[in-house]
Amino acid sequence: MAEIQIIGVVGGGQMGSGIALLAAAHGIEVWLHDSDLNALNRAHNYISDFIQNIVPKGHRSQAAGSDALKHLHCTSNLEDLHPADVIIEAIIESEDVKRKLFSELDKIAKASTILASNTSSISITRLASATNRPEQVIGMHFMNPPPIMKLIEIVRGAETSDETFSVTKALAERFGKTVICSQDYPGFIVNRILMPMINEAFYALYTAVASKEDIDTGMKLGTKHPMGPLELADFIGLDVCLSIMKILHNGLGDSRYAPCPLLVQYVDAGRLGRKRGTGVYNYRKKAEETKA
Ligand code: NAI
Repeated sequence: MAEIQIIGVVGGGQMGSGIALLAAAHGIEVWLHDSDLNALNRAHNYISDFIQNIVPKGHRSQAAGSDALKHLHCTSNLEDLHPADVIIEAIIESEDVKRKLFSELDKIAKASTILASNTSSISITRLASATNRPEQVIGMHFMNPPPIMKLIEIVRGAETSDETFSVTKALAERFGKTVICSQDYPGFIVNRILMPMINEAFYALYTAVASKEDIDTGMKLGTKHPMGPLELADFIGLDVCLSIMKILHNGLGDSRYAPCPLLVQYVDAGRLGRKRGTGVYNYRKKAEETKA
């Protein structure tokens, strides 16, 4: 396949907006779709703010920043993604919803288009089976936030072709990322290890082993993690963490992966983490204290 010229991104939340920004900043035409217009507006604002306020201070000139914005097209019409060479899906972590989308994308996309999923844990083989091009379906798991984090985990489904793998790897490297390659098992590499640790931190809080602050400080200063596990869970999104734990639990069939009841309760209560202003910690209070 010739070099990737156009990328489609589906889902303009935390991850999709970051992936679109990364691609536009590397001079690739990007079509970003979200089914929710508010989310699409938030994504556009986030990308403009990032380019105007953060990128010029560090690595890029103002001109490069405005060039990146010229490469970005936001759309509420999924069919606008037709010309994309690669479409990266970054919608909610639900297998049913993703399978429905992959089936639609299969009809909309060009015959040569690669369909990649940013899923944290869902089987690529099962997403691929919702399409008639399973050899062109692959996992491209960016880390949060995509413009900053240096890793992309590539996951090959049972039918993923060598060509799809090489094109995806080359794209990840064009973004300046290091690639690791995982087999298609629940949670892949990173979340197979990270999520049980986060879940265990919830169990420590749930069983009153220690305060949330001490759990986080213990892991930051005791094991040199840049963020504590509860803080990190809030950053990722507690709904995303819960979905991944359920996939590990169902997929690996071992009770040690059962989601902690406290994590389930927070999600039930709408305490989804930073994106909702409250999770394990209360960010609204912190924002008010900063203003005062
Ligand atoms: P998010 O909740 O911030 O964004 C999801 C977006 O998808 C929302 O804007 C929503 O309106 C949109 N959406 C939902 N269904 C849609 C559909 N059918 N068509 C079009 N748009 C739709 O979620 P986030 O955190 O960005 O996660 C997205 C994916 O990335 C998930 O699969 C997640 O597991 C994965 N991921 C998340 C990471 C994180 O730290 N949050 C890290 C790496 C991967």
